[in-house]
Amino acid sequence: MDEKTLEIYNDSFEYCLSKEGFLPRFYELFMESSAEVREKFINTDIKRQARILKKSLYILTMASVGTEEARNELIRLGKTHGQQGMKIPDYMYDLWLDSLLRTVREFQTEWKPEIEKSWRAMLDPHIEMLKSFVRQDATK
Ligand code: HEM
Repeated sequence: MDEKTLEIYNDSFEYCLSKEGFLPRFYELFMESSAEVREKFINTDIKRQARILKKSLYILTMASVGTEEARNELIRLGKTHGQQGMKIPDYMYDLWLDSLLRTVREFQTEWKPEIEKSWRAMLDPHIEMLKSFVRQDATK
């Protein structure tokens, strides 16, 4: 990850998270994205759902910084979301990222393509890793 990308991401991340409506809007777009996504959250308390989105963003950001703790957390999530757990299919991760990037676009003043690129560069590798858990053979 080059310095410039990291800097653009950090500025945008802090800016967006400081905006009051950011997380609720992300949540709204993600829930609107498909009935199957809503279905997955059917047994999760509404307050908890909102907190989960915030936590998930922090985990992915920490993982990009590359601490051991963050890596372990990602593996744990891979297991709870993967074949042995909630079986979240690839396309739902894509909906998650699309909803997030749409929210960034809505909230970010002076939006430019580099901003979206930086979010993708930061989050894509970790999302790929989470996706890989659902492709693993369930019998293993
Ligand atoms: C993109 C990366 C994602 C990250 C980093 C992430 C992270 C998390 C975290 C931190 C939790 C809280 C429970 C725990 O700590 O184990 C959670 C719960 C949950 N996630 Fe994700 N998640 C992601 C994507 C998704 C997607 C695409 C779905 C699809 C619907 C999903 C569905 C759920 C559900 C249903 C729960 C609630 C489980 C419960 O009620 O306890 N997640 N996620």
